[in-house]
Amino acid sequence: MDYVKLGSTGLDVSRICVGCMSYGEPDRGNHSWTLGEDQASPLIRQAVEAGVNFFDTANVYSDGSSEEITGRALAQYARRDEVVIATKVNGRMHAGPNGAGLSRKAIMSEIDNSLRRLGTDYVDLYQIHRWDHDTPIEETLEALHDVVKAGKARYIGASSMYAWQFSKALYTSRLNGWTRFATMQDHYNLLHREEEREMLPLCLDQGIGVIPWSPLARGRLARDWDVTTARTETDEFGKTLYQESDREIVDAVGQVAEARGVTRAAVALAWVLRHPAVSAPIVGMGRPQHLEDAIAALSVDLTDDEAATLEKHYSPRPVAGFR
Ligand SMILES: NC(=O)c1ccc[n+]([C@@H]2O[C@H](COP(=O)([O-])OP(=O)(O)OC[C@H]3O[C@@H](n4cnc5c(N)ncnc54)[C@H](OP(=O)(O)O)[C@@H]3O)[C@@H](O)[C@H]2O)c1
Repeated sequence: MDYVKLGSTGLDVSRICVGCMSYGEPDRGNHSWTLGEDQASPLIRQAVEAGVNFFDTANVYSDGSSEEITGRALAQYARRDEVVIATKVNGRMHAGPNGAGLSRKAIMSEIDNSLRRLGTDYVDLYQIHRWDHDTPIEETLEALHDVVKAGKARYIGASSMYAWQFSKALYTSRLNGWTRFATMQDHYNLLHREEEREMLPLCLDQGIGVIPWSPLARGRLARDWDVTTARTETDEFGKTLYQESDREIVDAVGQVAEARGVTRAAVALAWVLRHPAVSAPIVGMGRPQHLEDAIAALSVDLTDDEAATLEKHYSPRPVAGFR
């Protein structure tokens, strides 16, 4: 396994992060395609044994059961000091007032709820799961700073927002002497490259570690465009992200993979890993082979010609995945 410092922090993370949104009780929350504990736990064990130390989940995934499954598996198969556990806050956790968002009240409740579900005293990375348009960023940032000072999180991060919002958060922290975001978890893959315009250059300039979500475009980059799976049929959010014209890009991934004799997944992840702002893509893994392909990507050094083949069909598109 290769390791890298997460952005400009001193934290060592594997260059592949396991996306634990794939793990959760299918009858809890709105991801009916997730794997329950019996199937998920061996996959987490396989990742730990392969040297992966970086795991990403969120309070909202499968109504908290992703955190529960991830926490139990890591307690069983890993040493807490070696693994890096990332989770998120913002999604709706209960009906009614204060059931979602980034108010001081929500953050203080949700960090404790996440720690209880994960079965740990602290998370390594506590991320805001989008911008909260209804809470002043100062309130959110001061609450996150207090979470860090209370020893409940080692670092803080953010996820999918406009670059101007992220920049505002970074300078607001600096002005007030609060803990600064160390990471950006955003949507970046061969089918969605809008982050190349503003966010990725900002992150490079500011030493922010980028940990892209859906680096395989939720599996679309890992197989022929016409192939469907249980997840593609029921992944409602995923259906909003991509378009029919992406087929040409998917075909190009197939051509490069075939010529090299490696899997499409390895090629698509190797392309994400080429960007200098990227610390580690967060990969969803539902089978042992998925981890093997992700690890194989670390040995695929794409040439500029191969990258050009992969990139040539892309055209700018509306921002997808956040508002
Ligand atoms: N911050 C956010 O807003 C946000 C949003 C989305 C995700 N995330 C994070 O990012 C993580 C990854 O997201 P994702 O699952 O959408 O990412 P992804 O890695 O793009 O897609 C994972 C899916 O690709 C398929 N796949 C993976 N490896 C494969 C291989 N080697 N060969 C063939 N198919 C393969 C599987 O689909 P099938 O099951 O269909 O076979 C798997 O479920 C999540 O777990 C979560 O931690 C965060």
